Amino acid sequence: MKTVNLSFNYREYSSIEEMEPRDRELVEAAIDAQKGSYAPYSKFNVGAAVRLDDGTIVKGANQENSAYPSGLCAERTAMFAANAQNPGKAMTALAIVGGFDHTVSDTPCTPCGACRQVMAEYQNLGGRPLEVIMFGAAQTWKFDRVDDILPFIFDSFYEK
Ligand code: THU
Repeated sequence: MKTVNLSFNYREYSSIEEMEPRDRELVEAAIDAQKGSYAPYSKFNVGAAVRLDDGTIVKGANQENSAYPSGLCAERTAMFAANAQNPGKAMTALAIVGGFDHTVSDTPCTPCGACRQVMAEYQNLGGRPLEVIMFGAAQTWKFDRVDDILPFIFDSFYEK
């Protein structure tokens, strides 16, 4: 037996001004996407924006339902729309913002496990690292690839 250490680096920003213009643009798209959030039950509004390798940005926002499990997170709304409209086109970056009552939280908005699994699927499909930006007004985290936020990703045993 041996103990194995897993570590990775990620970037932390304390304001949107510190971020690269491309990342800022994607965060601004996610903030804009938050306007489309329909969250009358949780009142937690999330916006997401995904960039494709041709530069196209596709937005999504969480959509809730009175039958709770029928709703969907912002990230999956964005990624599913992106791949439905641009089948197979690689996704290169995804930005997420969230907050109660259409505000933007100070702390980073971190994606749920199911959304991370969907990110892994599209990163695999695209064959390129998918960067993940978790935005907060006072603190933002940027990760270089989905593997960093979902270590030991399930990779299907099916032939690709
Ligand atoms: N939500 C997202 O849109 N993304 C996440 O990664 C976590 C949670 C939504 C789902 C629900 O509409 C609300 O936030 C509260 O959980």
